[in-house]
Amino acid sequence: MSKPACVSQDLPQIRPYSLSLSASARAALKHQQPCCLWLTGLSGAGKSTLANLLELRLNELGMHTFVLDGDNVRSGLCRDLGMGAEARKENIRRMSEVARLMVEAGLLVIVSAISPFRAERDAARVLFAPGQFLEVYVSTPFDTCAQRDPKGLYQAALAGRVKDFTGLDSPYEAPLQADCEIDTARMALPEAIRCLLQLLQRQ
Ligand code: ADX
Repeated sequence: MSKPACVSQDLPQIRPYSLSLSASARAALKHQQPCCLWLTGLSGAGKSTLANLLELRLNELGMHTFVLDGDNVRSGLCRDLGMGAEARKENIRRMSEVARLMVEAGLLVIVSAISPFRAERDAARVLFAPGQFLEVYVSTPFDTCAQRDPKGLYQAALAGRVKDFTGLDSPYEAPLQADCEIDTARMALPEAIRCLLQLLQRQ
């Protein structure tokens, strides 16, 4: 993706300002350990459903949370991005940076995005302190996602009306060492939420 005219190269005169209030002080006020739980998987795999239910449960437990959902972020911050490989990389970079800021603010952030490329997910991981980034592979198989087809996108993509569709003519690179794997075709939602809560407790 070529850079538009308004996008600068790295500016040497930009120096991060060192804020007096630390991330740990912000977290302490919320009585929680902030982290980024990153859900990756195909469209229709169940990422948004899991993120939504998990956030409700965490809220009941008194946690301060936020969900960064692919479709939601693409409706605003990333509305200028398409679905080509370079645009997806930029989408994930922006989501990673927003998640990092939210973790610094003391929140427990759940990212729900296809995030199809391993390199971009790895680049997201290194923005966080060790153990603060948890990768969850929502491994629901392609055929199940295509059968569910909640938005009719699989049908449209298979008919050639949607291009660059993940799993068809755009690749999905599964995590090699996810912190947790959930196949929503095999695991009921309540059990999946229990797994995610356990993962957060181990953190
Ligand atoms: S990502 O690849 O850049 O991480 P993201 O999760 O933000 O994708 O957005 C994916 C959403 O866009 C899907 O939930 C789906 O509704 C929609 N979508 C539209 N076009 C495509 C496409 N070509 N491939 C996959 N998802 C698409």
